[in-house]
Parts: sequence; structure tokens; C-alpha cells
Amino acid sequence: MSQMFEVCGVEDIPVLGSKVVSANEGNIAVFRASDGEFFALKDECPHKQGPLSQGIVHNKKVTCPLHNWVISLETGMAQEPDEGCAARYPVEVKDKKVFLILKAMD
Ligand code: FES
Repeated sequence: MSQMFEVCGVEDIPVLGSKVVSANEGNIAVFRASDGEFFALKDECPHKQGPLSQGIVHNKKVTCPLHNWVISLETGMAQEPDEGCAARYPVEVKDKKVFLILKAMD
């Protein structure tokens, strides 16, 4: 079963910014990509659990602040040559509000 959770207004997360949501699953980072699209990943780098929410967003990727792994916001996958995956969560935008669906995607 999934649960829909209101995160904030669309304008509360700037383009290339992020916001952390505390959930039972742990912290989840909601990102706004360069084109304004929203994505959510578990706020733990697949390398050594660095806080992805504090990384630098570029296009549809985030660079981890600890050791510079680059993680795709679309897939959660680390970019080559690194290997690993952060859990992804669906995000919906309705009525200028951002909603997180608390059910990890495959
Ligand atoms: S913890 Fe993210 S690159 Fe090492």
C-alpha cells in the first residue's frame, strides 16, 4: 500500500535545489532538476551513505558531496565507473504542490 504525502509548494524547492522529508523509511530527498521536474531518492548515497540532498544538482543528476559519485535522479543509479543504486520514490505535482508517494520504486 502506498501513502501520499504533501511535501511543500512547487516554488518552495528552487530549480537545482532539494528538500529533505523525514519518513519511516528514513530521510528522503526531493530534488528539482534543471528543467523543473521533481524526483525523489533516499537521502543516502549508495557509496557510503553521503547526504545526496546536500549534493550539487545538474541536469537530472546529483553529485554526492562526499566523494563526488554522480547519481541519476531518474533511475537512482550511480554513473559509471561507479556502481550502486539509491532507492527512488514517485513524486506527483498537483495544484502547484509537490507530493511524495511513499512506496519505493523497483
Ligand atoms: S558517500 Fe557519496 S560518493 Fe562517497
